[in-house]
Amino acid sequence: MMAERAFGRYFDNPDDLFGWLNSAVFGTAAMDALNRSGVTALLLKGPATAEKLASESGLPQDRLRRLLDFLVAHEVIEGGADGLYAPTSRTQVMLDAQGLFANELISAMASSRLHEGLRDDRIPFEIFFGKPVFEYFAEQPQVAESFGKFMGWMTRRFERFVHTQHRFEPFGTVADIGGSMGDLLLSMLGEYPGTKGILFDLPETVDMARPAIAASPLADRVELVGGSFFEEVPSADLYTLKQILHDWHDDECEKILSNIRRAINPGGRLAVMDHILQDSPAPDEAQGTDVAMMVWDTGRERKLGEFKALFAATGFAIGRVTRNPSGHSVIEALPV
Ligand SMILES: C[S@@+](CC[C@H](N)C(=O)[O-])C[C@H]1O[C@@H](n2cnc3c(N)ncnc32)[C@H](O)[C@@H]1O
Repeated sequence: MMAERAFGRYFDNPDDLFGWLNSAVFGTAAMDALNRSGVTALLLKGPATAEKLASESGLPQDRLRRLLDFLVAHEVIEGGADGLYAPTSRTQVMLDAQGLFANELISAMASSRLHEGLRDDRIPFEIFFGKPVFEYFAEQPQVAESFGKFMGWMTRRFERFVHTQHRFEPFGTVADIGGSMGDLLLSMLGEYPGTKGILFDLPETVDMARPAIAASPLADRVELVGGSFFEEVPSADLYTLKQILHDWHDDECEKILSNIRRAINPGGRLAVMDHILQDSPAPDEAQGTDVAMMVWDTGRERKLGEFKALFAATGFAIGRVTRNPSGHSVIEALPV
């Protein structure tokens, strides 16, 4: 688990402040560029010169070398006196996290309009990209696919926590509502043999998930359902809602929860998987993703009491809560 660190500490020294921001912004850009151009994958095959990497990727050698040296300096790759650049154990992590880097760059673009959004009560993402995020994704499948990879990466960060700290048996059918590319659903089915799963998301997202689900050995236990959670959701015994409520305003959340309440099987449960804000400000993920939600959409992170109020308004009562000190927590709710 990463220690929580207040970034205000960098302000004690202007050199630290510049170094922190400069390496975060340009490190993200450099890794995104090297991943997208195929250089990271080439490096993972084994040590190579800048000349060879440039000729195989079609990139200009001088600028490629400068990016590689930046990552050598920051210990993501190794560079030897022999002119060879070599992967480290962190280089695979860099490639696996491509969705994260791509997403952070979109966040940066949208965030550049936060000052306007604050003044005019508009959503910075919509000011920058011209429309709400999920409408934008519907028109930009490559960006949507990259976002799906980011969600998959976030799920891989979370799955060990949920499988070890918050067990769900017994249940027959789990529906992952807004389940993106199906990473969490497949992980749940792998963990709970004999169960079935429903992947529910917008029709265009379900279509995007279809090939990966079909390729999974668990495919025959998965049903794909396209639709909107503001209209209707399929019936199930267990609902998972991961990183969904934090995208939406309270009124919108109540609509989603009411639709689940209407469809849930007798004896069913709902598991919300989201950050929980602490009662006092803390330099943790939740405090930062709360601002991210202000930038991306109508959502927010919530304190436990605020989740309780949403459940109370929609016919649920809070049950087991398993807090995750370094990521998404699990808040289970039961129909009343
Ligand atoms: C922040 S992502 C979370 C994805 C996934 N639950 C996870 O944690 O990896 C939000 C998801 O909600 C889906 N979504 C947005 N609006 C929706 C709607 N009206 N009905 C169903 N799904 C929707 C998006 O397509 C996206 O997959």
